[in-house]
Amino acid sequence: MSSILLLTSSPRSESLSTTIASELADKLKAQTPGSAIVRRDLAANPLPHIDDLFTAAIRKPAEARTAQEAAAVKTSDELVNELLAADSIVIGTGLINFNIYSSLKTWIDNVARAGLTFKYTESGPVGLATGKKVYIVLASGGVYSQGPAAGMNHAVPYLKSVLGFLGITEVETIYVEGLAFGPEAAEKAIGAAKSRVEELALAA
Ligand SMILES: Cc1cc2nc3c(=O)[nH]c(=O)nc-3n(C[C@H](O)[C@H](O)[C@H](O)COP(=O)(O)O)c2cc1C
Repeated sequence: MSSILLLTSSPRSESLSTTIASELADKLKAQTPGSAIVRRDLAANPLPHIDDLFTAAIRKPAEARTAQEAAAVKTSDELVNELLAADSIVIGTGLINFNIYSSLKTWIDNVARAGLTFKYTESGPVGLATGKKVYIVLASGGVYSQGPAAGMNHAVPYLKSVLGFLGITEVETIYVEGLAFGPEAAEKAIGAAKSRVEELALAA
């Protein structure tokens, strides 16, 4: 069965990244009969931040971990399995102080695991989470897909870097941008994002 992992990270009830990302996941599901959406609302159900026990545990083989260390990586193990099982991943985030929501950063810290989602080799690190397509939905007050503020968009380049490190290089980005430029601009931005969702779902 094909699995679509939907990661949403906004705490806002009127979140545009969540709305558009959810719409895309629904359309991808409709395109692939028998597929299922695995939902992770990272704002409503925050993941544990990595801590002392976690960072010690991930450096040891599973059988060498104490009971406390094993407990500290349990959620991370589940998240890694979810990521590895996914055929496509839809990530929704707002641009928050020029980067992603911290709830999404915590998900990344939980899934970037040496030996599971990437490995070190003599010729450098190799990603192990291959064969997936990722869709990034980025909502922002300003315009960052192009123009003078593009260099301040640390969200998309960061996500592409870390996903690439994990072996995921097929990435599409849907911008819902210019939302702070008045109701008319916001409506236009949402319309453009919805058209892109339509297009990407048809192409899936
Ligand atoms: C704390 C905070 C920081 C923000 N920082 C930025 C920013 O750096 N650049 C920007 O264009 N918009 C910024 N915004 C606006 C959000 O990107 C915008 O509201 C977006 O819709 C949030 O995504 P969401 O609707 O999915 O929650 C910020 C909003 C908040 C609440």
